[in-house]
Amino acid sequence: MPKDTLTVTDNRTGKTYELPIENGTIRGMDLRQIKVDDDDFGLMSYDPAFGNTASTKSNITFIDGEKGILRYRGYPIEQLAERSSFLETAYLIINGELPNRSQLEMFTHNITYHTMLHENVRKFHDRFRYDAHPMGILISTVAALSTFYPEAKNIFDKESRRTQMYRLIAKMPTIAAWCFRHRRGLPVVQPDNDLSYSGNFMSMLFRMAESRYTPNPTIERALDVLFILHADHEQNCSANAMRSVGSSQADPYSALAAAAAALYGPLHGGANESAIRMLNQIGHVKHVPDFVKSVKAGEGRLMGFGHRVYKNYDPRAKVIKKLAYEVFDVVGKNPLIDIALELERIALQDDYFIQRKLYPNVDFYSGIIYQAMGLPMDVFPVLFAIGRTAGWLAQWEEMLEDDEQRIARPRQVYLGADKRDYIAISDRS
Ligand code: ACO
Repeated sequence: MPKDTLTVTDNRTGKTYELPIENGTIRGMDLRQIKVDDDDFGLMSYDPAFGNTASTKSNITFIDGEKGILRYRGYPIEQLAERSSFLETAYLIINGELPNRSQLEMFTHNITYHTMLHENVRKFHDRFRYDAHPMGILISTVAALSTFYPEAKNIFDKESRRTQMYRLIAKMPTIAAWCFRHRRGLPVVQPDNDLSYSGNFMSMLFRMAESRYTPNPTIERALDVLFILHADHEQNCSANAMRSVGSSQADPYSALAAAAAALYGPLHGGANESAIRMLNQIGHVKHVPDFVKSVKAGEGRLMGFGHRVYKNYDPRAKVIKKLAYEVFDVVGKNPLIDIALELERIALQDDYFIQRKLYPNVDFYSGIIYQAMGLPMDVFPVLFAIGRTAGWLAQWEEMLEDDEQRIARPRQVYLGADKRDYIAISDRS
């Protein structure tokens, strides 16, 4: 009868240890007993960038990177994108189950009720430079919200936690739209709570002199689907930031600002912006082969390609590609799609990309849709952050309720100077 254990022999001492295997993992702390002598600290694992380390058990999102599978709480992303709404998916991600009709109505009401921002937020938004990057504004605004809701520090009070979650999901589109309006020099538009979550967001982005904004239903649905596709992605860089900062028991606004900051980088949520910059730089389908050559020569990366976990197609990219054409039917085709398709075609038959299992990720096509909708590149990561807020909050709450979690504090392998005595500046060469 095979045992769920791992037997390791320490060749330094000849001692053998039997470590339990649970859920396909050994516990890092079980290595600590492996010592050369009593003074030894004990063995650690070295895993820069968490390449093979599970930092938590989770019930939220399942990814099988080899098979290209993504599920929220067990539900395939394709089904949610086809049949759910963003708020229903947000409820699912946070609560673990799909809501019944009255639960969804109540959740929608709670979110809708919190869409407005304090007038002082508008005032400090005014102080940002005219060309401030919307992600910079978003990150600082989310952090600033903790000063408006000091009770958010009661992170072990479930009811208070819920209120902050509603506020964050509700206010993210308002903040995002105000960032966009600031960049354009346009006055802010207050939320219209008679519209849907995505419809209201469009109103806050695009409403001009009309007394009421009527969103185009195809674009409204496309935005909602994009929010669903971005809603969670298990232990990615920003979720890890949310959990890590949250583990110090910081309030959710501060933790979420950190998560949004992690998302900002071009290797994470900033990749949709970088992908469009790259497509613009390529400029024409005929330049694609040369561009691919330059990537293979190490002169940059194919932005929107590759993923730490997906080694097959990113299932979100499939949904987005289809969505792009629905949006183009309304707003006209974004010519960058032709360059993107050619890039994908050439890359997917090239050994360099095949061997490294590099496929388009969610960011390869999302920017093309956003741009077709009339949104500037630097707003793209902000749109990502709106959807991901649901996931960040669910990850944060799961971390707080997990008895095994403590303040996140990795170890290091110190390779610096040994002890040495301070030398006065006059005596240094
Ligand atoms: N273009 C060209 N080569 C690439 C790319 C790319 N986009 N991504 C990885 N590679 C190559 C690397 O150069 C490396 O090659 P080597 O083995 O010859 O050195 C190999 O593939 C492995 O790359 P790593 O950087 O080790 O892969 P990692 O898992 O650390 O990185 C990441 C994943 C950051 C997503 C990477 O693929 C990348 O930079 N992609 C472009 C940015 C991007 O699209 N990010 C969005 C990710 S999805 C999201 O956050 C929503």
